[in-house]
Amino acid sequence: MMINKRLISVCDESKKYMGLTIVCSWIGLVCNIIIIWLIGQLLNTMVAGQTLDLMSGSLWGAMSNYKLTTTLSLSTGIIITVIALIIKLVSHHLYGLYSYKSSANARTTLRRLVYEKLLRLGMDYQNAEKTSGVVQLSIEGVEQLEIYFGKYIPQFFYSLLAPLTLFVVISFISWKAALVFMLCVPLIPMSIIAIMKVAKRILKEYWNNYANLGDTFLENLQGLTTLKVYGQDEQKHIEMNEEAEGFRRITMKVLSMQLNSINIMDLIAFGGSAIGTIVALYQFKNGHLGVGDLIIIILLSSEFFIPLRLLGSYFHIAMNGMAASDRIFALLDTEEENIINGKVIPIREGLDISVENVNFSYDGKRQVLKDISFDLMPGGLTAIVGESGSGKSTMAALLLAQKKVRDGKILLNGVSLSEVAPYELYQHVSLVSAHSHIFKGTLRDNLLMAKPDATQAEINEALKTARLDEFITSLPNGLETEVSENGSSLSGGQKQRLALARVILANRQAIIFDEATSNIDVESEEAIWDAIYDLSKTKTIMVISHRLASVRRAKAIHVFKMGELVESGTHEELMIKDGVYANMVSRQQQLESIREVR
Ligand SMILES: Nc1ncnc2c1ncn2[C@@H]1O[C@H](COP(=O)(O)OP(=O)(O)OP(=O)(O)O)[C@@H](O)[C@H]1O
Ligand SMILES: [Mg+2]
Repeated sequence: MMINKRLISVCDESKKYMGLTIVCSWIGLVCNIIIIWLIGQLLNTMVAGQTLDLMSGSLWGAMSNYKLTTTLSLSTGIIITVIALIIKLVSHHLYGLYSYKSSANARTTLRRLVYEKLLRLGMDYQNAEKTSGVVQLSIEGVEQLEIYFGKYIPQFFYSLLAPLTLFVVISFISWKAALVFMLCVPLIPMSIIAIMKVAKRILKEYWNNYANLGDTFLENLQGLTTLKVYGQDEQKHIEMNEEAEGFRRITMKVLSMQLNSINIMDLIAFGGSAIGTIVALYQFKNGHLGVGDLIIIILLSSEFFIPLRLLGSYFHIAMNGMAASDRIFALLDTEEENIINGKVIPIREGLDISVENVNFSYDGKRQVLKDISFDLMPGGLTAIVGESGSGKSTMAALLLAQKKVRDGKILLNGVSLSEVAPYELYQHVSLVSAHSHIFKGTLRDNLLMAKPDATQAEINEALKTARLDEFITSLPNGLETEVSENGSSLSGGQKQRLALARVILANRQAIIFDEATSNIDVESEEAIWDAIYDLSKTKTIMVISHRLASVRRAKAIHVFKMGELVESGTHEELMIKDGVYANMVSRQQQLESIREVR
């Protein structure tokens, strides 16, 4: 209950270091005992020597005797003490080292697990955890677990070991006092367990609150401009203040719980050592104990309780870490939609993709795609058109395995997409959308991520095709120009062209364009479309576009309407059919002519 077996088994390598940490603490304790024991014995001899010789009445004898015994035991005593001190120092140093290693190991292991899991979850990860949640978990959460591994677990075992060791030692002097100490010790873990019951609930609430606050904060920060434009920032400010206040309250609850429990433990610890000491004092008064023995008991009594008391103070952080670990395991346990060791897509000259009777729903209720079938292959462009919300981007998401096809099939050169690992898929299929991400770094960095070993000639070619070459030559630093996060220092069209150049450089067999040219001026767009048509001779290209004029030359146009594929054919065929497509074309032409007249 106080030790999470799964957590420890996950961080297997930490075990060794935790063991060593415990051994070091114990050696330190033994050194302490030796030093205290020596001091006690020294006192005993001094007192005993004096009284003995004073009674014999011989002052000379008393002095010589005193000198003899004390100098003898003093010199060996000092040597042993020095040695013990050195060992103690060394073991203390090693304790720090092993404790660090144990927690460092746990930290890297857990972060690696979280990271690998996120990779395996792929684009599905956002279904499992929100971005800010993942960040909080893998930073804060893991940090709190470090204390769990580096301090709490070793302390847990040490605080069992220490009282037992001390019990044995003290029982040689006074078994009564030893027994009193030993009986008080379990009161501390008992109080910890009682507090833990309450703590668990509060801490769970604390973590949920914390994660929610993080989500709200991230979302509002990202949308700050929009909030300001609509004058909603003040309102959100108030809402966030309320959430923060809630978080403050639960934090205070956690803190006061911790403070109270520390008070209780202190009470037990001090009470226990006081009672034990009183017992020893009583025995001393009755002459059953020497003064040195009494000192030993008093000095060791604190050692009895310190380890458990320290355990109690780590305990809260450990509890916090455990709450975090619950969340980490929840993430690690998320079902993986993707395949790790999947099939390989057979390499042929081109990539044939066939979509067969695909149905899809995001929420299991509303059908977004209904019985869709079509083929994609090299040798001419395939276009998907349809009004907004008809399911075009959803189709693209399915083709890229961003969403799983549960009903129907998508085959890539005959292999089912559901059996192909994402990594393998992305070696063959790429997507350019209006949301393609541009990273902070230089323009060259952003291009090279598609093909790290690209030559300058290849880069120039891609830039030219994407109509980005002129812009780049106009920059004083050319390709070395830094772009800020999310490409925010570029215009919308420049970003799209950069994404385009990047995908061309990547040279995949299939490329899906989802409104990839929506922000580009008509002249550049036409040139880019020429390039895309060119690509489609050898590559499998699917384009989603609202601008019907640009897909006129497509080999096949598929028309989506409310999730259904209602018409397919070339531009001419569909015009003759005079259906949905022809209707869309004539409406767009009308609008354009109105614009021209104006
Ligand atoms: N993540 C999502 N969760 C739930 N429903 C979604 C999600 N994404 C899209 N939808 C719904 O699926 C339907 C199809 O959306 P989709 O994005 O595929 O349309 P689209 O044809 O690409 O439209 P547009 O031309 O506006 O880009 C819409 O009704 C939308 O509300
Ligand atoms: Mg769309």
